[in-house]
Amino acid sequence: MATGQGAARDLAETVPGGSGAVPAHVAIIMDGNGRWAAARGLPRIAGHRTGAQAVRRTVEAAIEHRVAWLTLYAFSSENWRRPPSEIVDLTGLLRHYLRSEVAELSKQGVRMHFIGDRGRFDGDIQTEMARAERLTAANTRLNLVIALSYGARAEIVEAARRVALAAVAGTLDPATLTEDSFSALLATAGSPDPDLIVRTSGEQRLSNFLLWQGAYAELVFLEVLWPDFGPVHFAAALAEYSRRERRFGARPG
Ligand code: FPP
Repeated sequence: MATGQGAARDLAETVPGGSGAVPAHVAIIMDGNGRWAAARGLPRIAGHRTGAQAVRRTVEAAIEHRVAWLTLYAFSSENWRRPPSEIVDLTGLLRHYLRSEVAELSKQGVRMHFIGDRGRFDGDIQTEMARAERLTAANTRLNLVIALSYGARAEIVEAARRVALAAVAGTLDPATLTEDSFSALLATAGSPDPDLIVRTSGEQRLSNFLLWQGAYAELVFLEVLWPDFGPVHFAAALAEYSRRERRFGARPG
């Protein structure tokens, strides 16, 4: 798989044929900030800060390619186990991002959504998230979903709990439950399932990300570390996607 910017550009430009289909929903596991910093003898926060710049580039690339939905895995429910100093750094960066970027994102036509257990963040960060969602609610160019304190298993268990409670209360007949009605109870209700899930840094795992929604997603793993991610890598991932034949379990026609 391509590594640097140049290699990714080559990959994007030499993809033969392909359907040319653009995914409606791209989801990204942004990985490798720590390794990027370590390779430069810098503290991990330097990797996260540079990673935040990659977020900006990626939003612009998604808009340019007319992708309708972009979901970014910014903080997993497991990330709370990191050393307290890194948690402080990451939440501080998030606070700064929310305060300083939302107006510009809104100007670009981005509608923001957050999924995950936002109740675990400080009150002011929760307020900023609600403000960002309110401020950008009328925008239609790109739906940007930021997964924060997100874990797919917890999300699925929460939906199952709601089903069980409704059944006990007599407001839901379990026999009528369908995949669609269950999907509507997940944090992602209202968004299409991801067509393409990208993970950077060479790791090849889903790490508890969109496990239900990603059932039929195409997976693309890139060697590039997240802080180095840019438009050429985004284009390379889309090119790889356009070469894949999606059958959703059906036989080729
Ligand atoms: C994974 O790299 C990255 C994270 C846990 C944090 C992601 C955060 C950002 C990209 C910046 C802020 C984002 C927003 C939306 C403001 P890692 O630390 O696990 O890297 P490693 O595996 O190399 O140690």
